[in-house]
Amino acid sequence: MQHVRCLLVGLGNIGRRLCEVLSSKASHLDSRFGLRLRLVGAADSRGAAYDPLAGLHPQHVADLKSAGGSIADYPGAGRSGWRAEDLVAIADADVLLEALPVNYDLGAEPGLTCTRTALRRRIHVVTANKGPIVLAYRELDVLARASDVALKFDATVAGGLPALPIGQRDLRACVVERVEAVPNLVTGFVLDLLADGIGWEEALARARATGTLEGDGAWDLEGWDAAAKLVILTNAVLGHHCRIDDVSVTGITEIDRSALREARAAAACYRLIATAMRRPGGTYDLTVEPAQISPDHPLARLGPTGMGIVYHTDIYGTITALIDEPSPIPSAAAMLRDLLSIYCDVSR
Ligand SMILES: NC(=O)c1ccc[n+]([C@@H]2O[C@H](COP(=O)([O-])OP(=O)(O)OC[C@H]3O[C@@H](n4cnc5c(N)ncnc54)[C@H](OP(=O)(O)O)[C@@H]3O)[C@@H](O)[C@H]2O)c1
Repeated sequence: MQHVRCLLVGLGNIGRRLCEVLSSKASHLDSRFGLRLRLVGAADSRGAAYDPLAGLHPQHVADLKSAGGSIADYPGAGRSGWRAEDLVAIADADVLLEALPVNYDLGAEPGLTCTRTALRRRIHVVTANKGPIVLAYRELDVLARASDVALKFDATVAGGLPALPIGQRDLRACVVERVEAVPNLVTGFVLDLLADGIGWEEALARARATGTLEGDGAWDLEGWDAAAKLVILTNAVLGHHCRIDDVSVTGITEIDRSALREARAAAACYRLIATAMRRPGGTYDLTVEPAQISPDHPLARLGPTGMGIVYHTDIYGTITALIDEPSPIPSAAAMLRDLLSIYCDVSR
């Protein structure tokens, strides 16, 4: 029997869903793997709760957040104004689950500080937050190795699709000649509506109504979210050090609507494709741009809530993985996949 003490910072769409998954899967994890995950602390923007002895009940945390409350209100353990960074600095824990906002404009804070602090304290990190991985992957990877703990970030690329584990674990022996990915959900959703003849503003309104688009969506629609995911994949899977400035990015805001409708008439579709193309010296050309997907392409089956990846390799052939993700649950569950890979796989 393995008891694992978890801290969870960020209790929004992902953190709250992760609490639900931890609660619903507790007996399965126990009976199948002898793994008992105990939530000892959690934080949101208004405060934190910490109870190293009794722990926090994940379903109670999820219910509190679903009702619009703060973790600061958690009976007996909650404290208003207590920051996530402070909780991570003092709590006795084995793993940090990080689901804070990306916040590139704030230097990926407070996620970056939480991650750094945990790794320095020899606490494993599982994160859904692209910010720290895009801005500081190398530093964090070195820190994790020096502390002999894991840094896992499966949920940062294409939600619940195991795009990173396939690459990092299963393709280690090969050369990846090319990666083609549709790692961003909302752009595909909007492109399909535009292809149906729906206007731009109406398409955005529908994307917003279903929760796939947040805020003004500029980061997604201009292609930067896909570029960030391509950067993570290129650094972590392809072993090629790059930054977001290295990606040539064209979003979907200027897309030619007539081309979308013509593609639809020809049973094809458009998607925002992130591509890494290997050059002879072993470096990669990185692009994000909308492109037509012909009906015989491996990504052609993607629906409006689909994401996918194609790895073209030298010795494993061409490997395609697709996901239909109509809710954030698969993304939250990707964090559980990371937890299992830390605690149940023979080696990290
Ligand atoms: N949504 C998805 O489908 C998805 C998929 C994959 C990855 N991700 C990534 O996962 C992360 C979380 O996404 P989300 O959709 O769950 O975001 P979200 O709904 O906006 O939730 C963010 C959470 O972080 C908390 N928070 C904000 N600022 C904070 C601060 N300074 N200190 C402590 N807590 C703070 C918020 O507190 P309050 O509850 O008090 O507001 C909230 O609980 C993001 O990095 C996102 O890119 C999201």
